[in-house]
Amino acid sequence: MAGSERTPLGRRRFLGYVGSAAAGAAAGSAGGAAWASARDPEPAPPAVPTTSEAVLSPYGPHQPGIAAPAPRVTEVVALDLLPHVDRDALGRLLRAWTGDVEALTTGRPTPGDTEPWLAEAAGVTVTVGLGPGALAAATVEGPWGFGPVPPMRHDRLQERWSGGDLVLVVGAPEGTTAAHAVRQLVRDASPFARQRWRQTGSWNGVDRAGRPVTGRNLFGQVDGTGNPAPGSDLFDRTVWVREPRWAGGTTLVVRRITMDLDLWATLTREEQERAVGRRLDDGARMHPMPPRAHALRARPAQNGGARIFRKGANYSTGEDSGLVFMSFQASVEGQFVPVQTALDQEDALNEWTTALGSAVFAVLPGFDEGDWLGSTLLS
Ligand code: HEM
Repeated sequence: MAGSERTPLGRRRFLGYVGSAAAGAAAGSAGGAAWASARDPEPAPPAVPTTSEAVLSPYGPHQPGIAAPAPRVTEVVALDLLPHVDRDALGRLLRAWTGDVEALTTGRPTPGDTEPWLAEAAGVTVTVGLGPGALAAATVEGPWGFGPVPPMRHDRLQERWSGGDLVLVVGAPEGTTAAHAVRQLVRDASPFARQRWRQTGSWNGVDRAGRPVTGRNLFGQVDGTGNPAPGSDLFDRTVWVREPRWAGGTTLVVRRITMDLDLWATLTREEQERAVGRRLDDGARMHPMPPRAHALRARPAQNGGARIFRKGANYSTGEDSGLVFMSFQASVEGQFVPVQTALDQEDALNEWTTALGSAVFAVLPGFDEGDWLGSTLLS
């Protein structure tokens, strides 16, 4: 348990526990600078909290992982319901997951955890959503504008990265904690659902001094600048569903987008910058933006005001590299689809990026202590 590791700890040992909620809080420390400091006998410089490693309360009107800073590690897991699962059974699964989420996000083992030592870390978030199949099984209407993403000309979708009745998005400060959390959640779902696909990616949202930064994708581009800022009115209007039963929820589109890093590397720096309309060093806008530039075509002003909130996780496997692209918005049809359609029609970036997977989920509203995920929809 995190508490038992609190004291006494030498600096070196302490820094090995940057993921521990208690240790992190006790020293006001943060993981960002820890790797450098661990080799440095001098006292660490004043620690800058990397919000991605703070403990977020699992309670509230929204599931907290959505607006939270990009975690270092993201695991996205889609599951399919077993044939017998109906509304009641789905409710039982969501109650079980609620308990798991409360435990995992506060650094406690879930009931039945056979490796409880792995549940100590701070900064875990779990976001739960229902795909079209789960909504149908439970006879629940999705939020307004929840629907499929139509086929796009540039898509090369594969079944193994697409669809799903349920989704879990687990964010964690490192991979061991993420893998452990996923295992607990998938195990507890086993009477009801089986894993369909799983995608893992990472994001480096801090600079060397541990200060939060936007972070870069595998093309080296600063990615996320154009997002509405979490906490702002614009963010709230973009992301949260308002209609009564889904209030506080949102929708999620997950796209696995492969990126041709080899071809990209043959471009000049100017060609790369023109493809997106942003400078590579700091992500600043080019003036004027080339007409086919990705960031121009994707702008709300070009798309009838349609706006989305993007979160990405870079992936790199033995097969290929790319982005586990996630987009949150109140309405898939009203916001995501127009932007995606515009980009499919005209976007310089299409030459080096291709969607291999696509899935849509209705993300459940948050819950309060004593309540459970999905209670407004299923009880
Ligand atoms: C691998 C695929 C992609 C890459 C590498 C990529 C990269 C980028 C970069 C570097 C920017 C500029 C910085 C920023 O504002 O964040 C950007 C902006 C943006 N991208 Fe993408 N993107 C990808 C896919 C997509 C997709 C699939 C969508 C939506 C369907 C999308 C929507 C947007 C939007 C809305 C903006 C902000 C435009 C603005 O208002 O300034 N992107 N993207």
